[in-house]
Amino acid sequence: MPTPLAPDLASYLDANDSRIHQELFDFLRIPSVSARSEHRADMTRAAEWLAGAMRSAGLSAEILPTGGHPVVLGEWRGAGPRAKTVLIYGHYDVQPAEPLELWTSPPFSPEVRDGRIFARGSVDDKGQLFLHVKAIQAHLATRGTLPVNVILLAEGEEEVGSDNLTAFIERNAARLACDYCVISDSAMFAPGLPSILSSLRGLTYLEIEVEGPGGDLHSGIYGGAVVNPATALARIIASFHDAHWHVAIPGFYDDVREWEPEVLRQMKSLPFDDERFRKEAGAPALDGEDGRSTLERVWSRPTCEVNGLLSGYTGEGAKTVLPARAMAKVSCRLVPDQQPDVITRLVTEHVRRVAPKGVRVVVRELHGGMPWRAELSGPLFDAARRALASAFGREPVIVGEGGSIPVVGDFQRLLHAPVLLIGFGLPGENAHAPNEWMSDENFVKGMRAIAALWEELGRA
Ligand code: BES
Ligand code: MN
Ligand code: MN
Repeated sequence: MPTPLAPDLASYLDANDSRIHQELFDFLRIPSVSARSEHRADMTRAAEWLAGAMRSAGLSAEILPTGGHPVVLGEWRGAGPRAKTVLIYGHYDVQPAEPLELWTSPPFSPEVRDGRIFARGSVDDKGQLFLHVKAIQAHLATRGTLPVNVILLAEGEEEVGSDNLTAFIERNAARLACDYCVISDSAMFAPGLPSILSSLRGLTYLEIEVEGPGGDLHSGIYGGAVVNPATALARIIASFHDAHWHVAIPGFYDDVREWEPEVLRQMKSLPFDDERFRKEAGAPALDGEDGRSTLERVWSRPTCEVNGLLSGYTGEGAKTVLPARAMAKVSCRLVPDQQPDVITRLVTEHVRRVAPKGVRVVVRELHGGMPWRAELSGPLFDAARRALASAFGREPVIVGEGGSIPVVGDFQRLLHAPVLLIGFGLPGENAHAPNEWMSDENFVKGMRAIAALWEELGRA
């Protein structure tokens, strides 16, 4: 049986439940949209708010500049040099909320309905970041101490690719030195089923621009004799896959490592239902790379996806025009041991090779991140299992993840510390979409699980 959370920590979190929620809602009210320059002041406001919350939790906090939005760094090192040091990472930036008309309640006016906290950033990642602040506060407020030293690193650019964070970690490596990294920026496999991540996919994000004639042309006067950039781009994109949804870019799979049979077996034992997944996505049917299950397709296999397309006339009615240009946003999700740079080069070369004569093609890289596989053993992992079991009343499952958190590979590479990903989101949480929500039960149990994690690590 798991040890229940110590009574002093549990009653602190219970007694302060309503204040904690009010504070979370204050945080969620700040529209910290990193992608939009009109929200620059809100980004600063969110960083200041968070630094204030860290200070009231008993940490020292600093707002540190980067080449982009600042990092908020909280520290508490009172456990002393012989205790373990944990670095907790999260992000205070959020995705744009548009389209606004699809939200039931406004994105930056948090509202609880049916046990769900609705707001942009509720689950990704402000709610999950804030529950860490409060778990630390529970320890420091009740006991004046923590079993581990903690560094709380919150960035403001995760949703735009974490471009400045690698350099920040390199510059501050000595200060960020730690034994373990812990991140809550992902989801549980199902309600009531606590989950530890075994993998993340990496990413390379590209923009492909196809230029044809000097300006838009009359498609009757020129069509058939001048190559149409929209058609050329469609041809390029169509060449990315074969008829079985294998990526047809030469060399694309060269560095893909297959999953160990044990991990695949674990995956197959999870309660997963294709039809439910299909319904959740609202898609007419599921399909993907031949010979792979849905979970394999999203967790263990790389992809090449079109994220956006732009060309020609898309307004009301008809307009006979031969567009001057066409543009696509394309991203590849990567798995170990694929390298973002290598894949960028392979895609770029492939695009140049298949591009029809008569157009100019430019491929630009926007950002990238390494794929990641977890270490599923050791004191951190064991402590996490026990802490999750104590908060949720059942053993956690090990799950893969199709999304990306670009900095995770850097933590492992630059800080040489194992990374633990335990998230408290849920399937259907609408991250990045209208009506994003976080389960209130998971927010509360998440605080308890993390408070228990520090106790477990202290005992380890
Ligand atoms: N929290 C997500 C990563 C994630 C997604 C974890 C889905 C678990 C499930 C993160 O904020 C995110 O959105 N990452 C981006 C990375 C990109 C902007 C570089 C992603 O995966 O698209
Ligand atoms: Mn996130
Ligand atoms: Mn996100």
